[in-house]
Amino acid sequence: MQIEIGTVSAVDVPAISALARLIWQDAYLGIIPQKQIDFMLEQRYNASCLLEELASSSIWWDRITVDGQLAGFASSLLTAIPREIKLDKLYVHPARQRLGLGGRLISQVLERASANGCETLILAVNKRNERAIAAYSKHGFTVREAVCVDIGRGFVMDDFIMAKSLISPNIPPNANANANANANANA
Ligand SMILES: CC(C)(COP(=O)(O)OP(=O)(O)OC[C@H]1O[C@@H](n2cnc3c(N)ncnc32)[C@H](O)[C@@H]1OP(=O)(O)O)[C@@H](O)C(=O)NCCC(=O)NCCS
Repeated sequence: MQIEIGTVSAVDVPAISALARLIWQDAYLGIIPQKQIDFMLEQRYNASCLLEELASSSIWWDRITVDGQLAGFASSLLTAIPREIKLDKLYVHPARQRLGLGGRLISQVLERASANGCETLILAVNKRNERAIAAYSKHGFTVREAVCVDIGRGFVMDDFIMAKSLISPNIPPNANANANANANANA
């Protein structure tokens, strides 16, 4: 099994949209209504939205392939809070889950976070998405708060915000600052 991580480009957009639908149907049916799935997919995975994000300098899209086949993707972005990065999307094909692909994508985002001097990686996950919460817990995230966000059309995102610190508890803050500076220099 040959696993490769790369950057999503414009030619990948139709495949990313199709994979998103497949994964969302598998993951969210039973958690949110079908109408909300359709609304959120259209809102987040339409071609112009994806192309706009790919062109942004503060949003990154990664893809993971298994034997040349698209098996998952992640996107991450800098938040308004200094030194904080958000794992905005993390999706792995249902037939490829529990093989460590999600963990590989998270590691990729953590490397980018360090290279950009970030201290915290956050994400939002539906409170009823037990599979993803278990995966994030396994990869070192803890629940920071609960939020309920109105996304229009009568739908809400009823989420936990989970966070993972990039600061090693055994290293004094200055040393972390130096490590981040070095990471920036190498980026
Ligand atoms: C969350 C997700 C990206 C994790 O990807 P992955 O490739 O399976 O992740 P990893 O293989 O690195 O880690 C898997 C871990 O997740 C947890 N997990 C995954 N599926 C699980 C399940 N059905 N039941 C319980 N735990 C599960 C386990 O801790 C598992 O570790 P284990 O296999 O050693 O027990 C994937 O499950 C997914 O795409 N889910 C649907 C979409 C989604 O909900 N995305 C998150 C949006 S916030």
